[in-house]
Amino acid sequence: MDASLTTSPAFALRLPARQLLTGHKRREYTWSNLTAYMTSDLLFRGFPRFRSTVPHYVAGRPNYAPSLIWIVKEHLHLTDRHRLLDLGCGPGWLGIAFAPFVGAVVAVDPEPTMLEAARAVAAEANVRIELMEGSSYDLGSDFGMFHVVTIGRAFHWMDRADTLRKLDALIEADGALILFNDVHPDVPENIWYKQYTELVDSYASRDGCIPPDRLRHEAVLLDSSFNLLVRIGVIERRVVPIERLVDRALSMSTSSPERLGPLSDRLAQELLTQMSQFATDGTVVDVVESQALIARRREARAIGTL
Ligand SMILES: C[S@@+](CC[C@H](N)C(=O)[O-])C[C@H]1O[C@@H](n2cnc3c(N)ncnc32)[C@H](O)[C@@H]1O
Repeated sequence: MDASLTTSPAFALRLPARQLLTGHKRREYTWSNLTAYMTSDLLFRGFPRFRSTVPHYVAGRPNYAPSLIWIVKEHLHLTDRHRLLDLGCGPGWLGIAFAPFVGAVVAVDPEPTMLEAARAVAAEANVRIELMEGSSYDLGSDFGMFHVVTIGRAFHWMDRADTLRKLDALIEADGALILFNDVHPDVPENIWYKQYTELVDSYASRDGCIPPDRLRHEAVLLDSSFNLLVRIGVIERRVVPIERLVDRALSMSTSSPERLGPLSDRLAQELLTQMSQFATDGTVVDVVESQALIARRREARAIGTL
């Protein structure tokens, strides 16, 4: 690993945990050393909702299709003149994936353990990204301007209208906000998925969670300055060990080890038993659609900057 840490003074007052990772760009990354790192004591401190999900998140959540990153980068004509903010970066997957294509990446998350994971993943990937402890509520002019802001699976945790207003001041006129997500298409290979989600949901604790009837992100975006919406999806077949599906369940804030306590072991056992019915050699086929919802300003198109 080739990551050394330095502290940059620019945001020091506002965001004390800011760290700068140095390394070289344009190298493929692997996850090989991550598991050992993810279970180290270093990770178990800080913000409770996500803290216990971190090792399971990296092990079990679907990462975004590399071809989606490539298509988005081509669509937006990203170059090394552009800065990218990855808000709610978690283990940094989006910022790290875009790092080779832009001039600078700033990755922000309120959960220190997620930032530690992102630091490890970036070092492993040998890419340079800047990590900051903070949240949507901290956004302000001291962040500087960005051409692109990515938010992966995190917009629902934010005050969305307020975040969009704040981002309006930080995204360049011809820039974009991109919401990343993953969904499971209803194809025969995903036959295991319905039972899987039903079992995980039967354990989930919904206290303090997002109400299911909440407005969709598209509706909130249409009421904002970022109301020119384009969705791109890449559908892939992946082979996943069933143990990783247990990690996926424990990576959700509603069914994290912290939330479930001793029940998390029971959920893990039930999932392994249930998923083994669908497994071949301990794996299932997971058909995943990685999605990017690109939101830009309609007036930017009118004045010809898109
Ligand atoms: C499900 S993870 C997503 C991680 C990553 N972006 C991805 O796409 O895999 C959600 C992340 O949002 C972060 N988060 C929660 N509330 C936030 C807020 N108000 N502003 C920024 N990030 C937030 C959490 O700490 C967590 O790391």
